[in-house]
Amino acid sequence: MARAPASPQEAEAERVEAAVAPRLAPSPEFLAKVERLREELPARVRAAAKTRSSPLVRAVVAGSAARGTFLADRLDIDLFLLFPPELSKEKLRDEGLALGRAVLETPEMRYAEHPYLRGRFEGFAVDAVPGFAIADPSHPLSPVDRTPFHQEYLAARETPELVTQIRLAKQFLRRLGIYGSEARTEGLSGYLVELLTLRFGSLRGWLRAARTWRIPVDLSEPGGRPPRLPDDVALVLPDPVDPHRNVASALSRRNLGVLIVGSAVYLGAPREAWFEVAKGGAIDRSDALRRIEARASHVAVVELARPELVDDTLYPQVRKAERAVAEEVARAGFAVLGSASAADAERVVVALEVADAHRSAVRGRTGPPAGLDRVGQFLEKWTAGGAGVLQGPFVRPDGSLGVETRWEVRDLERVLREALPHLSFGKNLTPADPAQVAVQPLASARDTPALAEALTGLLAKRLPWLEEPTRSGA
Ligand code: UTP
Ligand code: MN
Repeated sequence: MARAPASPQEAEAERVEAAVAPRLAPSPEFLAKVERLREELPARVRAAAKTRSSPLVRAVVAGSAARGTFLADRLDIDLFLLFPPELSKEKLRDEGLALGRAVLETPEMRYAEHPYLRGRFEGFAVDAVPGFAIADPSHPLSPVDRTPFHQEYLAARETPELVTQIRLAKQFLRRLGIYGSEARTEGLSGYLVELLTLRFGSLRGWLRAARTWRIPVDLSEPGGRPPRLPDDVALVLPDPVDPHRNVASALSRRNLGVLIVGSAVYLGAPREAWFEVAKGGAIDRSDALRRIEARASHVAVVELARPELVDDTLYPQVRKAERAVAEEVARAGFAVLGSASAADAERVVVALEVADAHRSAVRGRTGPPAGLDRVGQFLEKWTAGGAGVLQGPFVRPDGSLGVETRWEVRDLERVLREALPHLSFGKNLTPADPAQVAVQPLASARDTPALAEALTGLLAKRLPWLEEPTRSGA
């Protein structure tokens, strides 16, 4: 840190980060209180376990609360309740939830891929998560069993200076809207941020590397690549406590792209605004209507009731529904310009932008390659008269046969309504009755929070560090 900065930008970044860091740090009193809870919470759990003769092995606070790497305004305390590996999953859940209920106020059951309780303790938000006390983190029995090993790994390596850098990194990502590994965000988890900051030594060390990254980015050692990575993986960083697992599996390519571009822009012109959480940028229905008028395009809105699922289970299905709608509409002969989706407490919304609300009447159909037996049938079928042939049959540039017939239904919303029974929206989203799905042009769609979020994703795709232009034609 005592080195002289290499350039005016480096000097400015140094100044910006030094000014921001104290604002992100929790006060010494607050830190002391969290430190005290690190002892007190597990002690309470142990007492409750004794009363209940629970098979609890160990209770431990892990996550950012245990390392002091949390952002002062975004603290959740992760309390892990570890049980013998011999216990059944059902028993683990019941025993864990019972202990959680015994120590937390207002306990509320949450369930993504793993059951846990969200409650409060002395004014703090606490997640009580049951897991197995395993010896080898490369063979976890439940998805949370590696966590105590993460705690050990990081606690042994983190210095106060690094903790400061981790908080800066978390806040930087928050400004970009890519902090968090939930399905809704598809960004970087707190643990991933800590590993990357550790690896590159500081936020700036990390950003200097990131600005040259090309997606997909592979940070594994030779021969250390985790198996079974998806084709669209964005970043590969093996978990040091379980090299089979990619710590960055939740990160999308889009969001890694935002980080890469953001790194270059920040390093070129560091400003404190990069660490201020931006408000605004969201647009509502009337805003969107103005924009599509200027764009001379058309937007259709698909709305369905939200099934009772947590975001982490719902969002992958929402994205799947969005893809299904966009692909179907493109196949049906519309020029798709973009799509977006979102959910609120009551509904799921997919918004789709096309060049024109109506497709042409021309329906291109491909026939067999010239020379095949089926050519005769194709010609016979399409020369029999009637049946709305607009042009052909003919031979296409590639030597296969073709014919153009007439689409009777030409407006987007009707086409979509008719396609609904054939579309797959994911396990809990595919409606029993397609009539439960509302398909409307934007002008007559209901103005809802989910619609506003989807429209922002569709029509306000400005890079997150740029200020919104002040009410021009947009
Ligand atoms: P959190 O998501 O609460 O992360 O998960 P965090 O490290 O406390 O960071 P904050 O809350 O965003 O400041 C708690 C722990 O669960 C494990 C990690 O060990 C993490 O520290 N975890 C979480 C994973 O292994 N993978 C994940 O994708 C998320
Ligand atoms: Mn946490």
